[in-house]
Amino acid sequence: MAKLCVIGTGYVGLVTGTCFADLGHRVTCLDIDENRINMLKNGLMPIYEPGLKQIVDQNVEAGRLDFTTSYPEALKGSEFAFIAVGTPSSEDGEADMQYVKSAATSIAKNLDHPTIIVNKSTVPVGTGDWVAEIIHDLNGQVTPKFSVVSNPEFLREGSAVNDFMKPDRVVLGSTDLQAANKVAELYEALRTEIMITDLRTAEMIKYASNAFLATRISFINEMANICETLGADVREVARGMGLDRRIGPAFLDAGLGWGGSCFPKDVKALAHMAVTHDTHPQLLQAVMDINLNQRRHAVNKLDKALGGLQGRTIGVLGLSFKPNTDDTRHSPSLDIIKMLLAEGAVVQAYDPQAMKASKAVVPALELCQNPYEVAQDADALLLATEWNEFKFLDFDQIKTNMRGKVILDGRNIWDGEELQRKGFLYFGMGIPGSK
Ligand code: UDX
Repeated sequence: MAKLCVIGTGYVGLVTGTCFADLGHRVTCLDIDENRINMLKNGLMPIYEPGLKQIVDQNVEAGRLDFTTSYPEALKGSEFAFIAVGTPSSEDGEADMQYVKSAATSIAKNLDHPTIIVNKSTVPVGTGDWVAEIIHDLNGQVTPKFSVVSNPEFLREGSAVNDFMKPDRVVLGSTDLQAANKVAELYEALRTEIMITDLRTAEMIKYASNAFLATRISFINEMANICETLGADVREVARGMGLDRRIGPAFLDAGLGWGGSCFPKDVKALAHMAVTHDTHPQLLQAVMDINLNQRRHAVNKLDKALGGLQGRTIGVLGLSFKPNTDDTRHSPSLDIIKMLLAEGAVVQAYDPQAMKASKAVVPALELCQNPYEVAQDADALLLATEWNEFKFLDFDQIKTNMRGKVILDGRNIWDGEELQRKGFLYFGMGIPGSK
């Protein structure tokens, strides 16, 4: 059992802290946002993440997990200080490091015993060295021994707890092998592959992994568009490809493309790092372009099917960037809605978790209480996010409610032939007849 603190209570920090507590460690989670900490102290979750509240409650009850806004309190007796703060993108893609800097500075000011500083935030390659410099400079000669270890996270929103508890691997990077081994011990109970490498390589593994996954999705979306013109079915193409063990089936679902808080930010930041070091990120640029074009492609399909968008009512199912999250950052759905509104359409939508956040970003959006209200008087229905509750709908009811009969299944979850039989004009992404 170790004592550790986690700085930042976003998806990564809160899940990491809670899961370490669940593994038996004593954890204090710190955030400078008093509101968040008060919520957590009162048993309220500041984010929607399935299964998280239950484990938070259990570990608070067991006395292994608590919350604070005070650095001295969090660092007291902690052998490890995890940095899990946000690194948002600036306009040109460069990661904004102000929160990492302020966390490192606060740690430095309060460091009074040997501590291993573990960086979980996704940070530009070289940040580990920079954090070490910040702490060293502030403490000058009297620095207690400290080491910096990079430990990138691979947590997906919506399945973050499961991803923490059953990881494919844990990656650690440091110039101090002893410190990296100590961090490895924290994960021992997970019985997973632990890879130890140098700091910069660990930081790069995170970017390369996310960029590769985003590349797979853009690749299959490009294949989908080619399938549409050639009359092939991308779902079967992906299945056939995925059966090759060298390729594998994951992340080959064609649709509206990727969004969220990680892929867009990380691919852009990696491309930016390359450019600032005189390397042309040719593939990464194409991966981002294809992804954004996919949104326009969906709007064009609706435009063509309806013979114009001006004055049309489009019902949209799903607003979050993927199912099982309330996160709308870089959501393909919201981008498409903005384009539809700009073309003069009226948009009415429903999402199980992301309605409030979406209305704040797109005030012109009309919100509905369920999928059947979304269909009411709609000329077309767009499935943008594949929540489970959209998989089996009463399409007879939807048909009665709709004014038109166009359906664009942006995530290929419905049986198009069945819907055609019911009298809909069905379009998917990369499916024959969907051009
Ligand atoms: C991602 C990474 O998977 C995780 O390891 C990382 O550290 C954080 O970023 P997350 O952003 O939660 O996780 O979402 P993920 O499940 O990876 O999906 C990303 C996007 O890709 C979503 O918009 C999803 O809809 C889209 N996607 C995913 C596809 O369009 N097709 C697929 O086959 C898979």
